[in-house]
Order: sequence, then structure tokens, then C-alpha cells
Amino acid sequence: MNIILFGAQGSGKGTQAQMLADELKLQPRASGELLRDAIAHETPAGKIAKPYYDRGDLVPDEIVTEMILESMRGANGIILDGFPRTLRQAYLLDESLAKVGQRIDAAVYLEVPREVLLERLSGRWICRAHGHVWNVKTHPTRIPGICDYDGSPLYHRSDDSPETINRRLEKFFSETIPVVDFYARQGKLIRIDGTDTIEHVNQHILAGLSALGQQSVVSAVAEDRTSGK
Ligand code: AP5
Ligand code: MG
Repeated sequence: MNIILFGAQGSGKGTQAQMLADELKLQPRASGELLRDAIAHETPAGKIAKPYYDRGDLVPDEIVTEMILESMRGANGIILDGFPRTLRQAYLLDESLAKVGQRIDAAVYLEVPREVLLERLSGRWICRAHGHVWNVKTHPTRIPGICDYDGSPLYHRSDDSPETINRRLEKFFSETIPVVDFYARQGKLIRIDGTDTIEHVNQHILAGLSALGQQSVVSAVAEDRTSGK
């Protein structure tokens, strides 16, 4: 099963991607994480991407698409966070999956109003080692400043300033909503109220996948939970 997570900045894509990857045994791939890594290591792609990223603009399609498709090579069962974000990226993704006999099975759209997004992003902290997502108010770590999962220090993202957040939100509504519609027309879209608690949002996504016909995979989650895995 291959799933896409859509949602505006701060809607909870990264948070849910980590949970769903564990529950559904999928491999998470986040375009933002790949870009942050490339920028930090000053790779050729990272150097081109940096000014776009810092402004809150979308990085050119070719750069992001090559990065994410490369990271997907050989993987079976993917959860995509932050990709595709333009129609061109969606076409390139579909084309690449078709070549290896795969496809996108479901696209989840986390809907959250703007004022909630801004509030969440102001309290967000990310772990340095693996990008685990925390929030001082809604999802705190046990020890302040230290990731519960891997003990690495937490940091604030450079693009979480108010001006950049607003620009990123504009891009989401102008460039990415048409991609959401693209998957809706294919009957693959699951709309989720992303304002609920993290655990409830997760349960609603699993229920949505089940309703869409991904029953076998979701049953496996239920069995794992019953057997305490
Ligand atoms: P990216 O890293 O993808 O950032 P984004 O889309 O702006 O989304 P965020 O990571 O900010 O939010 P999220 O939805 O993951 O929310 P999170 O789970 O952290 O992209 C960054 C940049 O890279 C882009 O601006 C662009 O420049 C470039 N880029 C990336 N992909 C690209 C592409 N395909 N094409 C071109 N350019 C690309 O949650 C937010 C906070 O809320 C956290 O603190 C969390 O703990 C908390 N929270 C989550 N869920 C809940 C809940 N239900 N209740 C309460 N709190 C919650
Ligand atoms: Mg994210």
C-alpha cells in the first residue's frame, strides 16, 4: 500500500506519518526532511534548494522529485509526507510508480483552520537525529529539549518564522489544493478533521483507509494491537 499525506503547514503530516509508518509497516518519506538534510550537508541539490526553502517557496519540481524518487527506489509500501505538492510532481510520481507496477492507493487530507496551524507551529520542536515532531503544549517530551525516542536534542525549524509560515500557507492553497482535487477525482481521497487529538486523528485515518478498501492492512493493525505488539 502506498499513501500520501496532504495538509497545510502544521496540520500534523509529520506526526501522523510516524505513527502510520509503525502501524501499517510502511516506510515514511518526507520531502521536507530530505531537503533539510541536503541543505545541512550543502549538497549540490541542497544549495539550489536553500533560498527557496528559506523564503517558504516551493523548491523546483525537478530537484524535489528526483530526491524523493531516489529515496523510494526498491521500497515496497510507502507513506509520503509533503510530496507531491504540485500537479507536475503528482504526474511524475504516478508515472514512476506505474513503471514498477505500483500506484498510490490512498491520499489523506488533514484539514485544520489557519489560526490552529499558527498556534501549533509556534510551539513545535523537532529532534535533531530523526526529525521526530514534538510540541511544548500539545505533545511535550518527558525531559524538556530532549527527544523521548532517541535522546537527541530538539531544535526549532528555520522556516517557522511568522512571515515564512504565511508564505508557505499561501503556496499550499494555490499549488497543492489542485493536487488534493486530482486524487479526489480518482476516488482515493480521505478527508480528516485534523483539529482532533493526535490519537483520534490517527484512529480516523485508519478508519478512513478501511472504508476505502484497504481492509486487509488495517485488520493487521487491529491484530497487532490485540496481541500487544
Ligand atoms: P515540510 O517540511 O513538508 O513542511 P510543511 O509542509 O510546511 O509542513 P510542516 O512540517 O510544517 O507541518 P506538518 O503537517 O508536518 O505538521 P507536524 O506534524 O510537524 O516542507 C518545508 C519546505 O520544504 C517547504 O516550505 C518547501 O520549501 C520545501 N518542500 C517540501 N516538500 C516540497 C515539495 N514537494 N515541493 C517543493 N518544495 C517542497 O505538526 C505541527 C505541530 O503540531 C507539532 O508541534 C505537533 O506536535 C503538533 N500537532 C500535530 N498534530 C496535532 C494534533 N492533532 N493536535 C495538537 N497538536 C498537534
Ligand atoms: Mg512536517
